[in-house]
Amino acid sequence: MPTFSDKPTLLGTKTLLRPVRPEQDLPMLRVMLDDPDVLRYTSDSWTPEPPEWTEEMEQRLVDWYTTRNDQPDRLDLIVVDRATDRGVGEIVLNEWSEPNRSCNLRIALGPDGRDRGLGTEAVRLLTDHALRTLGLNRVSLSVYAFNPRARRAYEKAGFKLEGIRRQVLRHGDRWIDDIDMAALAEHWNQHEA
Ligand SMILES: CC(C)(COP(=O)(O)OP(=O)(O)OC[C@H]1O[C@@H](n2cnc3c(N)ncnc32)[C@H](O)[C@@H]1OP(=O)(O)O)[C@@H](O)C(=O)NCCC(=O)NCCS
Repeated sequence: MPTFSDKPTLLGTKTLLRPVRPEQDLPMLRVMLDDPDVLRYTSDSWTPEPPEWTEEMEQRLVDWYTTRNDQPDRLDLIVVDRATDRGVGEIVLNEWSEPNRSCNLRIALGPDGRDRGLGTEAVRLLTDHALRTLGLNRVSLSVYAFNPRARRAYEKAGFKLEGIRRQVLRHGDRWIDDIDMAALAEHWNQHEA
């Protein structure tokens, strides 16, 4: 059975998920990680002004993405828009628990990749890989309550609501809840059928 050490290419109708190619993907990833929506919806703390890009941050970014294909306990893939053959973001399985056969999923698409169904398909493809090909039992994720687009995409992909953790994020003068969702193997097989 394949493991997290195997870095597959997964083919959908609108998207293709493939391993990171640092030289090709870094310019896109830099733009994506600096995008206001990505900063707002994927950071675990919020500041009104994003931190200024430093050489140290650049080095960390390069180190991070040049080592993604060597990781035995997580799977980082680039989301490619098949219409243009260009990378538009990343999707990741992490927080793997071998005894519980579970992991977490996260995704971020840059502005060029959003609102055309690519995110929903990418989540469905990678969750299918986790539950059917890797034999995991559970894939979970969390989404801030002020991100209805992501929540809708996860629902369309087959994730179910599990609960709400209240007031997890301070955003300006507001508290934002975090919504927990998951896909389970037993339901996934019915959903896909
Ligand atoms: C979240 C994300 C992966 C979704 O991917 P996407 O390709 O943009 O989304 P899709 O086009 O597949 O689906 C979005 C759905 O949400 C709906 N939607 C969009 N904005 C919405 C809003 N404000 N309220 C409710 N639904 C909304 C769309 O209509 C669509 O549903 P439909 O097909 O039933 O009409 C992508 O937008 C993204 O990376 N955003 C920035 C980072 C982020 O939020 N990451 C997730 C953190 S949990």
